[in-house]
Amino acid sequence: MKNMDSMVKSATAYLEDAGKLTEEALKKYIPSESSIPASLHSAMRYAIFAGGKRLRPALVKAAYELFGGQPSENIQLAMCSLEMLHTFSLIHDDLPCMDNDDFRRGKPTTHKVYGEATAVLAGDALCIFAFELIARTGNVAVVEELACSLGTKGMIGGQIVDLESEGKTVDLATVDYIHYHKTAALIEASLVTGALLANAEKNDLEHIKEFGNGIGLVFQIVDDILDIEGSKEKLGKDIGSDIKNGKATYPAIVGLEASKQKAMELYNKSLACLDKLQGKDTEALRNIAALIIERTY
Ligand code: IPE
Ligand code: IPE
Ligand code: MG
Ligand code: MG
Ligand code: MG
Repeated sequence: MKNMDSMVKSATAYLEDAGKLTEEALKKYIPSESSIPASLHSAMRYAIFAGGKRLRPALVKAAYELFGGQPSENIQLAMCSLEMLHTFSLIHDDLPCMDNDDFRRGKPTTHKVYGEATAVLAGDALCIFAFELIARTGNVAVVEELACSLGTKGMIGGQIVDLESEGKTVDLATVDYIHYHKTAALIEASLVTGALLANAEKNDLEHIKEFGNGIGLVFQIVDDILDIEGSKEKLGKDIGSDIKNGKATYPAIVGLEASKQKAMELYNKSLACLDKLQGKDTEALRNIAALIIERTY
């Protein structure tokens, strides 16, 4: 196996490339700041062009290419859609009624700059615009996949249990529920979107789903760890937010060392799902998985 450093380096380049593609396409699709309602378009652009790793568009692209997808308008629509959905979740996650955070992607959060009402609406508008774009692919299965990954059985379901668990001692099953729903669901859906657009076979879809579910949980465990051990400069968001809010996190329940161990076990389990995709070039996904577990930002 190649060493982790070189895998992370390759993944970083892959994410940068996917990020550029996404940003070019977003500029094409998102209304300009001067078009009415200008304040809303301005807030949407502020949040989405602030940076970010562009992990979800990269996963869409990598899964699409894995199953032989060729460059197309549909893949651009899907990459933008996933980044908009993710950004919507971040804007709302940072609101005073949720995590009450002031920094995101190295800048003041959207509500700090535009006020809470505009931030709520900018999040709503990004979510709805994302569905407008994905609908243009004409792929109903993708629309359904994304809706499910965001609703009560997905991101929003995780966010409500996350909020209701604040300040409480919850068990590990509850933390797993929160993390699988609030974070892993959209990561899994990014991969499934790419795979569906490339007409992947049913069995392969199951393997890619399982990979996404596992690596998605790794992503959130690492996020919890970085909230304790990370650097504000690198992450572009305040650390210590989870402790401030009494969040149910992996380190809070099992401690830092056990969290790291669990992340490593899940990482290895996720890679085993890729082994089942026989005859497919899974290198890009393996590199991204390495980045997810090794990341410091
Ligand atoms: C942060 O996601 C929110 C979580 C699901 C933990 P990212 O760490 O992918 O945020 P950006 O897109 O890089 O800003
Ligand atoms: C957020 O989890 C997940 C979503 C945005 C849906 P966190 O609340 O831990 O994410 P950060 O740490 O604020 O990025
Ligand atoms: Mg949160
Ligand atoms: Mg948060
Ligand atoms: Mg966090």
